[in-house]
Amino acid sequence: MADVQKGFGDVERQGHISPGRAPASRRTYTIRHIVLAYCAGLISAFLYSSSSNAYIPVREDLKLEAAAAGRAGSTEVHNYPPASPTNVFPSLFPSDVGYAGPTPTGAEPALVATAPSYPIHTGAPHLLSPEALKNETKGKFDIFRHWGNLSPWFTVDRGAFGVDAGPEPPAGCRVTGLHLLHRHGARYPTGSSSYAGPANFSARLNGVEGWRARGQLEFLNDWTYKLGEEILTPFGRQQLFDLGVSMRMKYGFLLKNFTETNTLPVFRTESQDRMLSSALNFALGFFGPSLDRQYQQLITIEAHGFNNTLAPSKTCPNGRDHTKGERATPFVREWGDIYLQAALKRLQPQIGGLDLRIEDVYSMQQLCAYETVAIGYSKFCELFTEDEWLGFDYSLDLNFWYNSAFGSPTARAMGIGYVQELLARLTHTPISVHNSSTNGTLDDDPATFPLGQSLYVDATHDTVVLNVLTALNLSNFAADGPLPSDHIPKDRAFKASHLAPFATNMQFQLLSCDYTPEPQIRIILNDGVVPLDSVRGCPADEPHGLCPVPTFVEAIRAIVSKTDWAWACLGDWEVPEGHGWNTTIGEPPLRRVSTAMI
Ligand SMILES: *[C@@H]1O[C@H](CO)[C@@H](O)[C@H](O)[C@H]1NC(C)=O
Ligand SMILES: *[C@@H]1O[C@H](CO)[C@@H](O)[C@H](O)[C@H]1NC(C)=O
Ligand SMILES: *[C@@H]1O[C@H](CO)[C@@H](O)[C@H](O)[C@H]1NC(C)=O
Ligand SMILES: *[C@@H]1O[C@H](CO)[C@@H](O)[C@H](O)[C@H]1NC(C)=O
Ligand SMILES: *[C@@H]1O[C@H](CO)[C@@H](O)[C@H](O)[C@H]1NC(C)=O
Ligand SMILES: *[C@@H]1O[C@H](CO)[C@@H](O)[C@H](O)[C@H]1NC(C)=O
Ligand SMILES: *[C@@H]1O[C@H](CO)[C@@H](O)[C@H](O)[C@H]1NC(C)=O
Ligand SMILES: *[C@@H]1O[C@H](CO)[C@@H](O)[C@H](O)[C@H]1NC(C)=O
Repeated sequence: MADVQKGFGDVERQGHISPGRAPASRRTYTIRHIVLAYCAGLISAFLYSSSSNAYIPVREDLKLEAAAAGRAGSTEVHNYPPASPTNVFPSLFPSDVGYAGPTPTGAEPALVATAPSYPIHTGAPHLLSPEALKNETKGKFDIFRHWGNLSPWFTVDRGAFGVDAGPEPPAGCRVTGLHLLHRHGARYPTGSSSYAGPANFSARLNGVEGWRARGQLEFLNDWTYKLGEEILTPFGRQQLFDLGVSMRMKYGFLLKNFTETNTLPVFRTESQDRMLSSALNFALGFFGPSLDRQYQQLITIEAHGFNNTLAPSKTCPNGRDHTKGERATPFVREWGDIYLQAALKRLQPQIGGLDLRIEDVYSMQQLCAYETVAIGYSKFCELFTEDEWLGFDYSLDLNFWYNSAFGSPTARAMGIGYVQELLARLTHTPISVHNSSTNGTLDDDPATFPLGQSLYVDATHDTVVLNVLTALNLSNFAADGPLPSDHIPKDRAFKASHLAPFATNMQFQLLSCDYTPEPQIRIILNDGVVPLDSVRGCPADEPHGLCPVPTFVEAIRAIVSKTDWAWACLGDWEVPEGHGWNTTIGEPPLRRVSTAMI
């Protein structure tokens, strides 16, 4: 089966980590089979194996200077850490020196329970935005919030999703549990794409002889491509560490439950380098070092053919097929042809000897986002106007709508595995039949998939978060669908920057309220409370987004029983390419209808 590339989403490519990119100390465990790292071995290996290298100074400015020496598309890499450093003396740098000073732990923080309101996250410390744009918009336009899934996560405006409430519990309610589903932090670009792509742009500049840029594009004459592939950037690392700190500050009190039951939490992530790094950075923020005996990290295999609810595309071939589940490219291309015309006209005269295409200009916008989250700033950001950034943002909405959400015929099926796990956790009942992306070996074992815990943390991809929103039938986000490729709908409900930015985080908050014996649940996405009106039976217009757990459970049980994973993922249904057919609930054509169509 051909490995069909994703559009611009979170592609998970295999076997593409070139030697040298992943530091040696990490390579050892990316290949390793999962399993429960009783944090001692695996995690402390991560924490301490290279600690003796920690004092080697690495000057960022020198690295950049070195990288700038080549031409565009330079393959210069720095391969830190060195493979066999000569100054490693374990006996001089032990990690167990004792003399720790007093260590009483005090009470756990409980911001979500005790504070009068809830802290806001603004998202992008250490990153620079373009001065000219700041001037032009009088500082009112925040470019970082208009990069779709490439935006660093931020607290959405109160009421952004239609519920005018904050994440703090309503009066008379207290939080009893949390199921957190989060994305990895900022990363380098993923593989090659079916449209545009930063590395492709660099290759294109390299492939044409004798071009010369001037004016705003003059920097291209000396520009080199400096980005890695797939792995977390330093800023992305910080995002996950911060998310861990922030969750501990809000929900630390939930750990009491584990002390009382004499168990440890089990957090889940996948084998991909950035997924594991994200989870470990989250854990460091949440628990602090040493991670030993504070929690257990399950690392599931993310590779073709392995059942994995947090990487469902690996067992869903239709979901990776451009004629089926992943159908966004024509929509994005059409929209690009519209919103980037003026930019193309403006930029073309500033480069001689190279015919710019819309796709190149689109790549330049991608480069702005990717360079900024990787190296802190980007000259490409200065090239575009506010409207062009709004256009870019929308192109990513189109991309994710048609590839991974309500407009993709495989989205619901791909999200259903996590929903089944959520159902199992909410009802404290193991999954009865493995007929989707669930993995019985892991999910039927209480060690790897414990039930009855007060805190769950799972790391995944932007695409999967959107699959889950779709599977849960949160159709308030689908209000403007199918999304048009010729204009931006006003006040649209579906924004990738709100739903699936870097380090996006979805809290399933469990509450107990004085006024009712029924436990309550609500969904908080990037601090915005999500209306549950479209979850069958949940109260309409509930002012805090609450739904009784039994009602919610009944609704998603019904969704699970009606979701035909095998048909969606493996069936031979067809949709005419491009515009012939639409779904707004993330489902393929019905079994029999499709047979008639073929
Ligand atoms: C932005 O405005 C400041 C203050 O007016 C000015 O000094 C600066 O040159 C402007 N920067 C750009 C890039 O236009
Ligand atoms: C980008 O480059 C890759 C690798 O060279 C290639 O396979 C792919 O088709 C290119 N994509 C586009 C849109 O040009
Ligand atoms: C279930 O997951 C484990 C660990 O990731 C893996 O070894 C196993 O092959 C998976 N099972 C299937 C059927 O994919
Ligand atoms: C893996 O998924 C397939 C398809 O849903 C299922 O038939 C199989 O039983 C699953 N394997 C495990 C170990 O869960
Ligand atoms: C721990 O949390 C679970 C899930 O919320 C709950 O069922 C259980 O009663 C709690 N245990 C204790 C000892 O508080
Ligand atoms: C699907 O939606 C797109 C975008 O609105 C539209 O152009 C197309 O006509 C729709 N197709 C059908 C069959 O409704
Ligand atoms: C999904 O949402 C739609 C629109 O809100 C509603 O009509 C439908 O009944 C819901 N489906 C399920 C299975 O909850
Ligand atoms: C998959 O199993 C669930 C029970 O866990 C059942 O409700 C559902 O109907 C099954 N799906 C299919 C397509 O057989």
